[in-house]
Parts: sequence; structure tokens; C-alpha cells
Amino acid sequence: MKKIIFLPVISLLFFFSACKSHNTDAGPDKIDSKVDSVLNLMTLDEKIGQMVIYTSDWDVTGPTLKSNYIDDIRKGNCGNIFNAHTTAYVRKLQKIAVEESRLGIPLLFGYDVIHGHKTIFPISLGESASWDLEAIEKSARVSAVEAAASGLNWTFAPMCDISVEPRWGRVSEGAGEDPYLGSKIAAARVHGFQGDNNDLSDSLTILACVKHFAAYGAPIAGRDYNTVDMSKRVFLDAYLPPYKSAIDAGAMSVMTSFNELDGVPATANKYLMTDLLRNQLGFKGFVVTDYTAINELVNHGVAANEAEAGLLAVKAGVDMDMQGEVYFKYLKKQVESGQVDEKLIDEAVRRILKVKFMLGLFDDPYKYCNAEREKRLVYAPEHLQAALDVAKKSMVLLKNANNTLPLEKGEKIAVIGELANSKRDLLGSWKAAGDWDFMKSILDEIKTYNGENNVLYSEGCKMMGDDRSGFAAAIATARKAQKIIMVIGESCDWSGEAASRTNIQVPGVQTELLEKLRALGKPVVVVLMNGRPLDLTREDQTADAILEAWFPGTMGGKAVTQVLFGEYNPSGKLTMTFPRNVGQVPIFYYEKNTGRPIYLPNDKYKSKYIDCPNTPLYPFGYGLSYTTFEYSDITLSSNTLKENGKIEATVTVKNTGSRDGDEVVECYVRDLVGSITRPVKELKGFEKIKLKAGESKPVIFTITPDMLAFHQLDMSYGTEPGDYKLFIGTSSADVKETSFKLE
Ligand code: GLC
Repeated sequence: MKKIIFLPVISLLFFFSACKSHNTDAGPDKIDSKVDSVLNLMTLDEKIGQMVIYTSDWDVTGPTLKSNYIDDIRKGNCGNIFNAHTTAYVRKLQKIAVEESRLGIPLLFGYDVIHGHKTIFPISLGESASWDLEAIEKSARVSAVEAAASGLNWTFAPMCDISVEPRWGRVSEGAGEDPYLGSKIAAARVHGFQGDNNDLSDSLTILACVKHFAAYGAPIAGRDYNTVDMSKRVFLDAYLPPYKSAIDAGAMSVMTSFNELDGVPATANKYLMTDLLRNQLGFKGFVVTDYTAINELVNHGVAANEAEAGLLAVKAGVDMDMQGEVYFKYLKKQVESGQVDEKLIDEAVRRILKVKFMLGLFDDPYKYCNAEREKRLVYAPEHLQAALDVAKKSMVLLKNANNTLPLEKGEKIAVIGELANSKRDLLGSWKAAGDWDFMKSILDEIKTYNGENNVLYSEGCKMMGDDRSGFAAAIATARKAQKIIMVIGESCDWSGEAASRTNIQVPGVQTELLEKLRALGKPVVVVLMNGRPLDLTREDQTADAILEAWFPGTMGGKAVTQVLFGEYNPSGKLTMTFPRNVGQVPIFYYEKNTGRPIYLPNDKYKSKYIDCPNTPLYPFGYGLSYTTFEYSDITLSSNTLKENGKIEATVTVKNTGSRDGDEVVECYVRDLVGSITRPVKELKGFEKIKLKAGESKPVIFTITPDMLAFHQLDMSYGTEPGDYKLFIGTSSADVKETSFKLE
């Protein structure tokens, strides 16, 4: 039992400055020796204190709040804080930790910087629709710079949860349904947060956190926190890849998910947190729980009480208890009674201290607390420009009958809808420290662009409820205009955490008003603001044009305006399938063929509905442009792919319209016969190209055997020789195809 030695602070500061001299060479072995030198000074209480994170009272992102977190910091019982930001507040709390706790170990400061800190970018699902990895990385980079400038050194992102469940509100935080695209985006986000060479000592990089590990995106019935039950094969081939990609990109923290997987809640799941995450994926960072997830093991029914829950978590490989106070209350006694080996505690604390050293916090605990830098970097013009750029690239043109869009500047426009006049909703869920004081709404920006006198506005109706009293005024306003823009969709609170829906239609009576407006016989443009795929069957039948704008962020009003008036030619493509109705859910492009596929010649005995087509309203990878593109047939460098060889597949894409435009060219494969059934398509590549009007460009995809690997019948991971189809096209449902053989 270590005696508590009250070292005068000065000697500890001297001690840490000695560590500092090593810090110039922060190689892993140097850091490990420094970590050990600190660990050897720590009491068991102080070790457990490092395994604890509490929310400040600045923002609450879960069901509980502790009032005495500042006292816990002072006593060394809390080594990490989240939901606290600004240099002033972080400095205040850091000072208490460094100067008033016995050892003065600096705090980590975490926050949900998901799609921006102050400058807010489109929600992550929207960003993913840009298919622009550079833009997505830029968004994470700007987010990291503003977060770091505001005192933060850790973000709880990227969210890497694959999902085919539009009922689940958290699809808004992810990158859609596809494992390949989701993996590319996860890596881009980690690079953005941690910097290209993962130099966490750089004071403008922050620690990334891979969440929610694992398979949180597949709750039964799309109900948040609900049971996840899937085959190990589906988990490994469809849900694991983005987490793995983020870890391979260097992310140094992982957050456990609330859900169970195969009967074991993630936070107590040793297979997930140790066997898979550390031993197979080689993860070297630390694991933090989601908010009170240890406590919730009792509700799950795998622990009789919180003490047992803590035992399960620490033995599963969970290093840090977020907000649950379970490690704080029970771990010490469990070590003292021999239920937990102190070595396990030491390993967890080592992993946490190592990251603090990598961040340079022992060098300078106040390195993120520069008030001048905060003032200079937050909302910097180049950040706002980046947010505008990403917002435009995220938007998806779903319909454009009779080339209704783009609008002509100076046309008399009626703008209708509560969302048109909302700034708050533009930011979406998980808006971090984003504020809307200086922002402009879509209506504001259309007026600025098109001239106040050319824009009429009427709210028409609220986003929710059945109050139709505003209909008449909206219709009267629309009668005076040449064209009508109606902004409809969900409130920003209707997606994100704890926001599942059973009905995924546009809420309230917005669509009813849309239909009445269309009955006036004027062109009607719908701008959508939503955080999930919606059932847009009625809107698709009514509107002449539909622009999916998601929740486009701080610069969203300007971005929508520039797209509507053709200053930017929309190039986004859906990364989640939009169903015809919720009865089709789950519906996704990489389905299996089944034994009775829809194309069988008989009318009855096949996998279909009697009341709805099998096809979605808008498929994965779909999005229109103000121009048109034509694809040539695919040419292959060879029709045989040898074991260590490669095939080059080439198409020529031509811009056959009158406007320059960007096109996402998508490449899919299908394994025709396997030891298990295989998806009818799997995305294996994409390239976003710029084409001037009339310009043609060859696009080449290189196919190698490793891209075709999967978990086979015996669960070994590898490829199986045989016949494959290869598809290249403008969406998962609109492709050219050819075939090749894998030897
Ligand atoms: C929430 C979310 C998680 C977030 C955490 C901290 O419950 O599930 O995504 O990072 O708590 O705010």
C-alpha cells in the first residue's frame, strides 16, 4: 500500500520539467519511461482518478450531472473533463488540476466536435454526400483548429457507425450505409483532427475518438440504444471496416457504444475491447465509455449492481468511466480485496498518461489556452469559406423536372416555410459551440442575392403540428411570384441522439401546403433540411425540383442560395438509400440476390411486396447535376485477375450538357458465386471529377484481389477464385457493366 507522500508542488513541477527535457524527443520509448516515472508516484486513488471523466455544467449530453467536479479535480479524483471550452474556462480548470492537486497531472478536455466547433459544417451525413475526401478532411481540420484554439484537446469523433436504419436519428452523425466509403471518410476525419502525421504535440491538433464501438448503427427497429443482433460475418465485413480504418489512421481513443452485440453490451465486451480492438486491430490508445455506459450494464442485465458492472468493464479493457462514478466508487476496494489486479489499473492509467504526454500537456498544460489565438482563429474568414465550400458540395439534387433549377437572378420568388427563416436549424444536431447570432437564414441569403423586392416570404406552417391557419397567406403570397421555393423538413432536434422516428415522412402539414402551392400551377422548388433519409414519395410527385440540403451549417443559407441560383452546380450523391416508405426499411444497395429474386419470370413467387416496388425512391450513390454526363462502355486491361495481379477498368465520362460540373464516378463489383451468398453490388472505388461542358475524361479504377476479400464460410478472411461482374456508373442503380475472372 503506497504511502501518500505530500510532495511540495515545486518539486513536482521540477519533476515534470525534467520530463519536459525528454519531451523534445517524444519517441514512444521515451514516453513510456516518462509515463512509468509518473505512475510510480501515484497512489491508487490518483490512478483511479485518471480513469474518470466528468462533464462540466456548461453542456450536458446525457442523463446525469455532477455538481462537485471541480472539487474532484482538486482532489485528483477526476483526471479528465468534457463539455468545457473557451481558453478562459479551460485555463481555470487546468490550473486547479496542475497547481492544486497533489501531483498536478494535466486534464484532458473533450467535446463533441462532430462537424465543427464554432464554425459549423454540414452534419456528417451531409458531408459524406460530397464524396470529397479532401473537403471532409478540411472540415475536420478546421474543426480541430477552432476546438484547440478554444482550449480543447480531444473530440469525441469521428462517429464510424455504419447504418441502414433511417428510423435511427444518429444516422445524421455518420457517413451512411457503405463500409468502403465509410472507411475512407473515417480515415479522412482522423487525419483532419490529428493532423496528417498524427503529431498530437502540435497545438492545433486534437485527439480523435473512434465511436461508437461497436455496431451501434444497427439497433433493432431503429430505436436508439436498442439491441443489436447480427452475425459475426456481417459485423466483420460490413460494420467493422470504418472503425478499423480510423484506428489504422492513428486515432488514439475509442468510445464504447451503449448497445449490446451478440448478447454482450459493448462496455463489458472483452472480445470487442481487448481481443478484437487491441490484439487483432493493434489499437494502442485508451478506451472511454459512452455516457454512464458502465452503470447501464445493470439495466442490460449482465451485472447485478454497479460494483459488478465496474468489474466487467475494467476486465473487458475499458480504461475510462465517462460520468458514471463507478470506477471512483468501487475500483479501490476491488483492488484492495484482490478482485482486480492493480496491474490492470496500471495498464489503463499508462494508456491515458501516454496520450497526455503525446499531446504535450506535461510540457505545457496551458498550451491550448491562448486567448489571443482563440480570438484570431475562431470564425476565421478562411474557416467560414471552407464551411461554405463543404456545404455546397454536400447538397444533392434529387429532382429537376423541366430544368426548373437553377433559378434566374431577379425572378420574383416566393419563399415559404418555417425552416426558410431558421438559423438555429441550419446548424443541425451536435452543433458543439456553434452559435447562430451572426448567421443568415436561407431567406436572408436569397433576399441578399436576388434583391429584397424580388423575394416574398410567408411561413405557411410550422415544421410540426397541424395548424393550417397560415396556409391562405402562403398561397396568397405564392400567387404574386413567378416561382416558389418551399423549405421543408425536420427540426434539427429530430435527428441526432435519442431521436428515433417510426414515421420518416416530412413532419406536420408541410407537404399538404406544398401540394396546395403546386396546385397554383407555378414551378415549385423544395429545399430539404433533414438529418436522415426521408420518405419523399409525396414530395417527389409534387415538386418540380428537390434539393437535399441536410443541415448545412453556419454558411448553409449562402450555400443553398448559391446552388439554387446556379453559382454552384450541385455534385452531391446520396450515401444512404432513400426508401419509398418506412415499410421497406432496412433497404440498402448491397443486398443479397435471394433464391427468388425479383426478376424471375413468374409474377408471384419471388422476393417482392404486393403494395410497393422493391426499388428505393432514390438509390445509394444517386444525385443529379445541372448538366448531364454520359458513360462509355467499360474496357478492362484483362478479363482475368491473377492472384498477385491487377486489372485496370476504364470508362470515359463526357459532360454532355452546357454547364461545367463535378461527377462522382462509382465502381462496384459482384462476386457471382461464393462459399456464402454475396451482395449484388459492393462499392470498391470512386472518383470525383471535374468536367467542363463538352469535355470528356477517362476514369481508371485498379482492381486487385485484396479488394475482393471477405469472411468466407469457415470465417477465414480471403478471396475465392471465380466469376465477377464489374460495374461503373453514376449511381448504384445506373451503371455500365462487364465481367472478369479471378484466378
Ligand atoms: C453521448 C453520445 C456520445 C457523446 C457522449 C459525450 O451520450 O452517445 O456520442 O460523445 O455522450 O457527449
